[in-house]
Amino acid sequence: MDHFELRNGVLHAEDVPIPVIAAAVGTPVYVYSRATLTRHARVFREGLALLPRTHIAFAVKSNPNLAVLRLLAREGFGADVVSGGELERALAAGMPAEGIVFSGVGKTAAEMLRGLEAGIGQFNLESEEEGVELAQLAAAHGLTARAALRVNPDVDAGTHGKISTGKAENKFGVPYDRAAGIYGRLAALPGVQMRGLAVHIGSQLASLDPLEAAFTRMGVLLREVRAQGDAVTHMDLGGGVGVPYKAGEVFPAPADYGAMIARVTADWDVTLMFEPGRVITGNSGVLVTQVVRVKPGVTCPFVIVDAAMNDLARPALYDAWHDFLAVEPNGAKMLANIVGPICESSDTFAMAREIDAVGPGDLAVFRTAGAYGATMANTYNSRALVPEVMVDGARWAVVAERIAPAAILSAERVPEWLE
Ligand code: LLP
Repeated sequence: MDHFELRNGVLHAEDVPIPVIAAAVGTPVYVYSRATLTRHARVFREGLALLPRTHIAFAVKSNPNLAVLRLLAREGFGADVVSGGELERALAAGMPAEGIVFSGVGKTAAEMLRGLEAGIGQFNLESEEEGVELAQLAAAHGLTARAALRVNPDVDAGTHGKISTGKAENKFGVPYDRAAGIYGRLAALPGVQMRGLAVHIGSQLASLDPLEAAFTRMGVLLREVRAQGDAVTHMDLGGGVGVPYKAGEVFPAPADYGAMIARVTADWDVTLMFEPGRVITGNSGVLVTQVVRVKPGVTCPFVIVDAAMNDLARPALYDAWHDFLAVEPNGAKMLANIVGPICESSDTFAMAREIDAVGPGDLAVFRTAGAYGATMANTYNSRALVPEVMVDGARWAVVAERIAPAAILSAERVPEWLE
């Protein structure tokens, strides 16, 4: 459920008409609903209510906007970060260091040191080499790193290949068969306190079955690690729960996810950790765009909008579907290709899709754009960096300004030998 609805024929974000925001801020612009974010955060937490000890670390990568992080910090969420930049954001948003998990396959020494000095709760190690380096770094600074070992369970998540992370050939985690040995060797090092195992098999999962298969394997490994005499107090089950992108699609509910986990982990006796991203933010945001013009095509017209693949990369990258709705629909429908202005054919949001009839100057939204939307934006074709707005009831605020091409240009230099 979200709070983007038609009222008197005009799409609103909570109590704010979308045209009001478009007029004030311009388009394209991301609009987030505070009430939807809060609701999703609470529904996710309630879904885990059967589990005795839990910690939820929001996957910052899905939407790192400072206001979004602040809101989730206030809901008691920690953060799953994958870079020094995300770590600074989580801290700036007021997330307690203790609740921050540092994931990521290529943490640099400088990033690890920053995490250590900030006193973060857990490093998720992606290799034995990384663990040895972290232990040395911590010991050299008189600190102890709390860590979990990320394991690659070799389970097919059944999602798009580019967002699948749990197959043996993927770069993530250590091989399942070698995990217990690596855990034992790292646990023996000074500077690091091994406290758990971590797993994340992919994103936008449509079924709980691959998750259950992965968690079941992790349960076997947990027993193996304990049997060799090593302590395991935390198990990080990652993120990955998918969300509907098309009206009418049904996805596993957080309550079903929680019930499955309660069943699989009943005898684990650990703190369970979660790294949800998309399930919290995905349907909490839309990308508002304006139709530039409509151009005839061979089979159907091209609706050219002022948002492009640089603003919302998912269709170009993963052939992702985002519902497209007119902000003031007149009831008519049209068959159209929806494209942006960028000079390559991958700048296509939809082909031959039946959509609300729109014409030049009309406003429309791409739905389910709150996750992996603004955060993946760039300035290709020297376009502006897209702004973000958050709505809360009848009030709203710009939570990320548009960065104009001139500002980006002003950071560039011509060396004197070219002048
Ligand atoms: N934990 C780890 C270690 C991850 O790698 C990810 C996502 C998450 C948690 C959060 O997963 P979620 O709950 O959001 O599915 N840009 C792609 C998605 C990439 C996901 C990367 N890792 C997209 O637009 O679909």
